[in-house]
Order: sequence, then C-alpha cells, then structure tokens
Amino acid sequence: MREREELAVCGIFRLVLRCVPYPAYMNVFDDSLSLVVDDCWSNWLKHGRDGGNAILRDHVAIQTKAFAEKVLSVVEHPPKTMLDIGSGDGLMAWAALALWPHLKVTITDISPALLMQAKAEATKRGVVSQCSFVLANAETLHSIADDSQDLIVSRSTIAYVADKPAAFNAVLRVLKPGGTMSIAEPFFREQAHSAILLKQASKDMSSPLLALLYRWKAAQFIEPLDASQPNVLTNYTEQDLLSFAYQAGFHALHLELHLDERQAPPRDWKTFCAMSPHPLAPSSGEILATRFSSKERAMLEAAIRPNIEKGEFSMVSRMIYLHGRKPAH
Ligand SMILES: C[S@@+](CC[C@H](N)C(=O)[O-])C[C@H]1O[C@@H](n2cnc3c(N)ncnc32)[C@H](O)[C@@H]1O
Repeated sequence: MREREELAVCGIFRLVLRCVPYPAYMNVFDDSLSLVVDDCWSNWLKHGRDGGNAILRDHVAIQTKAFAEKVLSVVEHPPKTMLDIGSGDGLMAWAALALWPHLKVTITDISPALLMQAKAEATKRGVVSQCSFVLANAETLHSIADDSQDLIVSRSTIAYVADKPAAFNAVLRVLKPGGTMSIAEPFFREQAHSAILLKQASKDMSSPLLALLYRWKAAQFIEPLDASQPNVLTNYTEQDLLSFAYQAGFHALHLELHLDERQAPPRDWKTFCAMSPHPLAPSSGEILATRFSSKERAMLEAAIRPNIEKGEFSMVSRMIYLHGRKPAH
C-alpha cells in the first residue's frame, strides 16, 4: 500500500513538473541558478528507460550510439559548428566530437537539469571549452543566431514537439546556407494504433485480459498528456516529417523508416515496473498502482510476468531517419 501511495505521489509530482513552463527569460542557460530540479526528461534518461538496471543500461547505450552514428554518417564534409536540438545528456555531441575533435557544439534543451548534466559530462570529457549550453525550445531556437550552424542534428526530440512544422522552420533559419540537417525520430503512431486494435479485440473476444492490456497501452500512447493539446506522440507520420521539412525550404531530402524487430532482453519485474517507453509516459508501475484494482493487477501480472522475466517477447523499434540541406543561395 505504501509503495502504491509513493508511486501515486510520484506520478502527481511528475505531472506538475510537466506543466511548469520554463521562464522565457532563461534562454541562455545559467547553471549558477540553484533551483535546477529533475523533470520528466532527466528522470527518464536517468532511470525510466532502463529501470535502473545496469544490463539494460548497457543495452540502451549500444543501441543509442548506433542511432547517433547513423545520424552523423550522412554528413559529407567535416563541419566546424554543430547544434543539437534536445541534447539530453549529450549523446549526439559526444558521438560528433569523436568524429570531428575540433568541432564547436551548441547543446540545446528545454530541461535545465539535462543541460547541467551535459555540462558536467563535457567537463569530465575535457571538451567543455568547445561546447555551449543553451536553454532553447525546438519550436523557435529563439536565442540561436540566423545562418550560424554548419550542421543541425536531433535524436528523439522532434517527436515530443507539439508544433513540428515550426521546429523545421527554426532549423532552416539557424542553418548556414548549404548546411545539413540530420535527425532520427521514433514513430509512436503504430503503438497507439495497436492499442486501439487491442480495445476492439477485447470486445470481440470478450477478453478481460485484452481489456487490461488495452488500458495499459492506452495510458502510455493514446491518452493526451494535456487534454487541451494534441497528442504530440501521434500527430505525425514519416511522410509528415518529410513534408514539414520540404515546406520549410529544405532540399535534397532523404528519409528512411527503419523497423527492427528484436527479442527483448530479460528483466526482473521490479525493473519492468520502473520502466516507461518514453519520457511522457507513466511507468508500468505507476499505471498498475494507480489505474488498476488489486484483482486486475494480479491478473495482468500473472499473464505477462513470466515472459518479461524470461525475455520471451519481441519489440519493434520504429525509427525515422531524415536528412536534407538548406539551399546554398
Ligand atoms: C528522449 S530524450 C532524447 C535526448 C537525446 N537527444 C538522446 O538522443 O539521448 C528527448 C529530449 O528532448 C528534449 N525536449 C523535449 N521537448 C523539447 C522541446 N520542445 N524543445 C527542445 N528540447 C525538447 C528533452 O528535454 C530531452 O532531452
């Protein structure tokens, strides 16, 4: 019961943090501000994506490094300046600096906690003098100068931006003429779609278990996080990203949709409950504790726990890779 209450309080706290807009004046990140608290973004990168499990953490690190290398592999000439949108803990920056050791990197994010973490990591790696840390929303990149960057990258960030066309306009504005944009974004719409199919199947088959699975998946992929806003996770397809980029003025666009089915690594139940599939989703533990009765929890756990612990289920990663250039004139 106590654990349930803690999870519920934690859920409410996360919701409150999600709703607090960062002050508009904090465009250039000032880490002397002492009031830097963890938010849903930093919490997810630190714990939510691997549940605090060291083996899964290594697994995620290998996978994300491969995503970053693919984003950078399209760059034809070594850039002098690169801006990363939604840098998180710095994945793209460290991968780029490994390729181009003299690169100047602008690390941007809406999360002060993550900017601080990235700055600490840059210091540890001895590259802090090559990096600047800017609090900036992808929709405007408002404190970044026009025509200032050779390369703009982003990994798993535009997916969470409400006004995606605005983000592509901002990228075009900030790129130098002839500069390159390269991004990799997850594609969540399929998950929302499979939740809807579960709902239908639960009715057709009168299956209480499928109805529970539907409620669980819907909590993570369908329910709008803020009822007054469109669901940022489902308001785009790969075609949309391509046309937003085209309409912004990019050319030589190339898009690849990668669907990779893999056996999930085994994980204990506690780890599974601490994990969520993306930063805006409640963890499985929060869902079980706050949205299911004890009878429903027991039914769901009995049905899925053995497969999760043995790693006997498969996962499909859906990643959209898109790159293009700003016209030279
Ligand atoms: C899933 S994390 C990815 C972090 C990093 N790019 C990586 O690949 O590890 C999403 C990142 O996007 C940032 N983010 C979310 N919404 C944003 C927005 N509107 N503008 C800029 N960054 C945003 C979050 O703070 C977080 O760092």
